[in-house]
Amino acid sequence: MSKIYDFNQVISRQHTHSLKYDFASERNHPQDALPLWVADMDFPVADEIKEALQTTVNHGIYGYSESKGDYYQAVINWYQQHFDYHIDSSWIIKTPGVVFALAHAIKALTQEGDAVLIQTPVYYPFKEVVEDNHRQLITNSLVLKDGKYHIDFEDFENKIKQHHVKLFLLCSPHNPVGRVWTKEELETISQICLENHVYIVSDEIHSDFVHPHNHHYMLASLSPALQEITITCTAPTKTFNLAGLQISNIIIPNETIRNKFKRQIDASGYSQCNMFGLVACQVAYEKGNDWLKQVKDYLYQNILYVDQFLKENLPQVHLIFPEGTYLLWLDFRELHLSNEQLEDLIVNKAKLWLDSGSMFGKDGEGFQRINVACPRSILKQALFQLQSAINQ
Ligand SMILES: Cc1ncc(COP(=O)(O)O)c(C=O)c1O
Repeated sequence: MSKIYDFNQVISRQHTHSLKYDFASERNHPQDALPLWVADMDFPVADEIKEALQTTVNHGIYGYSESKGDYYQAVINWYQQHFDYHIDSSWIIKTPGVVFALAHAIKALTQEGDAVLIQTPVYYPFKEVVEDNHRQLITNSLVLKDGKYHIDFEDFENKIKQHHVKLFLLCSPHNPVGRVWTKEELETISQICLENHVYIVSDEIHSDFVHPHNHHYMLASLSPALQEITITCTAPTKTFNLAGLQISNIIIPNETIRNKFKRQIDASGYSQCNMFGLVACQVAYEKGNDWLKQVKDYLYQNILYVDQFLKENLPQVHLIFPEGTYLLWLDFRELHLSNEQLEDLIVNKAKLWLDSGSMFGKDGEGFQRINVACPRSILKQALFQLQSAINQ
């Protein structure tokens, strides 16, 4: 009988260097604001991961470290078993994070001034890595219709042609709108990109959080031609709550693209990964599935709780019901507040620290992103605070 985890347990993260809990004043938030922003979880990791890390800590020597065949095999098995995608070990390049990989992919495959397309509202570093590397940012706005976001394919194709887009940054599943793209949607994207010689960097960091009745397709698994133009960014860090250990696996089947990417990584001066990240990644993929199943069930119940709470108590606030991720996109537009008024409501009146929708692009205005990867009692507290602020 496998262990049953109790995710209701509240464990203080204060004074642990936690970005979420310990940096309110540095990030211009009141000390007493309840934080449900940055995308990590308030849950301890699987016991197997903790034990493996403890063994590494107890050894006491923390020199340069590398991964062997069993590390790669653990990654390969995970993607084969969960997504029916076969990866060759030579395709995997380890980086200290997905955002780091996005930036280096852009540098590897485009020149300064080239056009890079993103679909807004989207995880804000997408915009930053494009602009900070002096590429031209092109946006294809997602369209909200009947409570669900859709891709405007006509605009997608027109923008690609008009601006000679070289690279498309895909967020799949999508943060913050919670879409898990269907096979048909991914195939349409692919066809347009193949026809117009657009590379795709597919950020699939949230792929393990897909809710009932949805299925995540790895973009590169859909066709051999697609695999040749795609860089897939994966990581165990969201899935197993290891963000502080900084490890991600970037999958690049095409040798020419892989070599360009590697040259960028070399040029940045980065070589070996953090040994704790390597240890945790391998054991997570080997032994973490049982914990993950339990955490996913708990998160889904949290999502249902938010949905019900809003419908019963705050019908003016709408949940864009997610197909994936533990980040919920809340629509406050019915309150008719300016950006400043909405921020004031959330931060000063409700005493919450969420991610303001406007951070995700202009089309995120009037929304807020809330991270529900916390014990239900914290989530309840947050929703009560929101209710009393709105009712005042
Ligand atoms: C879509 C997406 N990509 C990347 C990241 C961060 O990845 P990393 O910490 O590996 O840079 C996040 C974190 O929230 C995310 O939502």
